[in-house]
Amino acid sequence: AKAQIGVTGLAVMGSNIARNFARHGYTVALHNRSVAKTDALLADHGDEGSFVRTETIAEFIDALERPRRVLIMVKAGDATDAVINELADAMEPGDIIIDGGNSLYTDTIRREKAMAERNLHFVGAGISGGEEGALNGPSIMPGGPAKSYESLGPLLESISAKVDGTPCCTHIGPDGSGHFVKMVHNGIEYADMQLIGEAYDLMRRVLDLPAAEIGEVFAGWNTGDLESYLVEITAQVLAQVDAETGKPLVDVVVDAAGQKGTGRWTVKSALDLGIPVTGIAEAVFARALSSSTEQRVAARGLAGGTPGTAPADKATFIDDIRAALYASKVVAYAQGFDQIAAGSAEYGWDVDPGSLATIWRGGCIIRAQFLNRIREAYAENPKLPSLLLDPYFREAVESGVDSWRRVVATATTMGVPVPAFASSLSYYDGLRSDRLPAALTQGLRDYFGAHTYQRVDKPGTFHTLWSGDRTEVEQ
Ligand code: 6PG
Repeated sequence: AKAQIGVTGLAVMGSNIARNFARHGYTVALHNRSVAKTDALLADHGDEGSFVRTETIAEFIDALERPRRVLIMVKAGDATDAVINELADAMEPGDIIIDGGNSLYTDTIRREKAMAERNLHFVGAGISGGEEGALNGPSIMPGGPAKSYESLGPLLESISAKVDGTPCCTHIGPDGSGHFVKMVHNGIEYADMQLIGEAYDLMRRVLDLPAAEIGEVFAGWNTGDLESYLVEITAQVLAQVDAETGKPLVDVVVDAAGQKGTGRWTVKSALDLGIPVTGIAEAVFARALSSSTEQRVAARGLAGGTPGTAPADKATFIDDIRAALYASKVVAYAQGFDQIAAGSAEYGWDVDPGSLATIWRGGCIIRAQFLNRIREAYAENPKLPSLLLDPYFREAVESGVDSWRRVVATATTMGVPVPAFASSLSYYDGLRSDRLPAALTQGLRDYFGAHTYQRVDKPGTFHTLWSGDRTEVEQ
């Protein structure tokens, strides 16, 4: 019998997805540039299901039933283009190529167009959940032509994570939409991790708590409205003791955070779309600062001024941090969903934010109880202007705002950096302000560049003759 799905690129993610398909009863054709990886997979896991071993692209294509469905799991970038072209040359009209890597959505738009011209379907699919998710159920965000989802959807849904029986996979929209939402997912992942890091740092540096105790605080938080995969694994990482030194693992790890690019892409795209994603941007910049090793070493002696005093009541301050974390998290998601709405409008994707929240409830790295609330918020009001205006989130943030301010104020007086907490609070205050100093910015722009301004009391465009008699003229 022919295979229902082919997977090319059998590094860990590719192998695990191939095994996941096989475990769900599909016959899976396997291909890898070097056949050794294919053989290793078959030797270790060949008994988990039905696999077809192939060596060449021709064999691989021949092993598949039609329309052929081939999932590419190779490194994003040039490697992906090379594999796509090789496959396309061997495929026939109606066949489907799925790119499951973290590709840049503009590449996906370009590739989809090129494949459509050859009568092939190209599906850029965001896949989240890491190695474990790939094997046991990831969250899958396929874009591409709706028609391709008829044949592909059932397979992807069957291997995806399930929450209350609902698959964590849905057709996101045309061409690059799947990779776009995966990119923003990763941006939110960055923000979530930065916020967790700031909460940890405050407990460490302001309250002087040992790592293991902070781990217990996170474990406790994981039973409330912060319940999420990232909070759960934070508790585990903080509990980990280094075998060699007996110190907490977190103390022997170099404090320079890496990044592969999806967070940076999110911020670049947000800049182009004009959407403030301050939480995500601060998270990306915090990783950059952490990795500026030479500069940090040189700057270590800079004076921090007179430190404030630590809060006397530890338990109350921990509650404050929890509230600050939750409120900042709401801001980061509100901003991320704003970016998705803007991207969707810009590219005509018609992405449904509610169904996106639904498929992020399980499988992916940002999976959380919280996503259920977001799903409910959009179910209640699909045209919600900001998540912060949903009654549930509004109440949650408003009731935590005093804590949030105390945390940012304490961090500031004690010299502990909280870029994501602080910028999220400033965003919140900016959003809810009646008047912003942007009016002054407009005045200055008009002064030095005759950039004009609008008035609050009448329509029209105006300019003050700054270098003349300073009367106002209507443009
Ligand atoms: C996921 C992850 C995954 C990967 C990120 C990490 O959703 O499963 O986001 O895609 O772990 O690329 O990104 P950084 O290396 O940039 O932190």
